[in-house]
Amino acid sequence: MPHPLHALLIALHDGRGIPQVGYGMYKVPAADAARLARTAIDLGYRHLDTAALYGNEAEAGLAVRESGLPREELFVTSKLWNDDHGYDEALRAFDASMARFGLDRLDLFLIHWPVPSQDRYVDTWRALVRLRDEGRVASIGVSNFHAHHLRRIIDATGVAPVVNQVELHPWLPQRELRVFHKAAGIRTEAWSPLARGRLLDDPVLEPIAAKHGRSVAQVVLAWHVAQGTIVIPKASSAERIAQNLDVFSFELDEADVAAIASLETGERTGRDPDGD
Ligand SMILES: NC(=O)c1ccc[n+]([C@@H]2O[C@H](COP(=O)([O-])OP(=O)(O)OC[C@H]3O[C@@H](n4cnc5c(N)ncnc54)[C@H](OP(=O)(O)O)[C@@H]3O)[C@@H](O)[C@H]2O)c1
Repeated sequence: MPHPLHALLIALHDGRGIPQVGYGMYKVPAADAARLARTAIDLGYRHLDTAALYGNEAEAGLAVRESGLPREELFVTSKLWNDDHGYDEALRAFDASMARFGLDRLDLFLIHWPVPSQDRYVDTWRALVRLRDEGRVASIGVSNFHAHHLRRIIDATGVAPVVNQVELHPWLPQRELRVFHKAAGIRTEAWSPLARGRLLDDPVLEPIAAKHGRSVAQVVLAWHVAQGTIVIPKASSAERIAQNLDVFSFELDEADVAAIASLETGERTGRDPDGD
């Protein structure tokens, strides 16, 4: 029987599906991570987003193992950190992540940043293609890649990432990159979908939230999901974690969408991937 969030799966070009809303685990302290990831799962999330950098892969793995759900009903993403670029280094980093998770499968493995100054991301991508071909990871993708980085790995290997996880929110809607993604069959995944919470007292968004009887966070997440974007909001209380999944039961109207579009400034909360 399909699980309750079956309808929210976004199709990937490799034939698999990713639940559109995931629980983001950056800055979720290891001491709280197993409990909060488990809270998310119990509230209906079927997707966890972590990374070697976050220091909570073990806790994410524990939450998955103790959830009582069949493993195939949960989607787990991790990411290779910047000091593990290179072919052999990437294979070793993947093994280290899997040992920390204590899981026998990973759904999605991403290159966290291209780090152009090292100029090794093409070799790293070749290693991820090998991991996928050997069935050690189900899907492979990237994060923080500009179009020119994407073009390079696709030209070198013939393999497009299934997703590119990038900073994306109303200040930074990534319109040009999305056009490239669409042409290449890459799904867009938004990190810091709430601009790290900095958008939440915006005077343009507050009346929209009041009109729909929702929170500002829910309005912003509804804006994302209506565009087919995968989102991974992070929150630290059960109430907020639950709120962030309840974003499919109302729709923004044209005036709301136009007002949100007016917030675009191009401002990033994180660094530019070409700055590394
Ligand atoms: N690939 C990358 O390079 C990269 C970079 C950054 C992030 N990420 C991923 O993206 C995820 C999300 O990004 P993020 O954590 O930077 O920022 P975010 O999800 O945009 O915002 C998180 C902030 O918003 C607050 N918040 C969340 N839901 C709320 C709600 N319903 N009401 C009020 N406040 C709410 C949280 O507060 P509390 O925590 O206090 O509840 C937290 O301060 C990360 O956890 C990580 O998985 C990836």
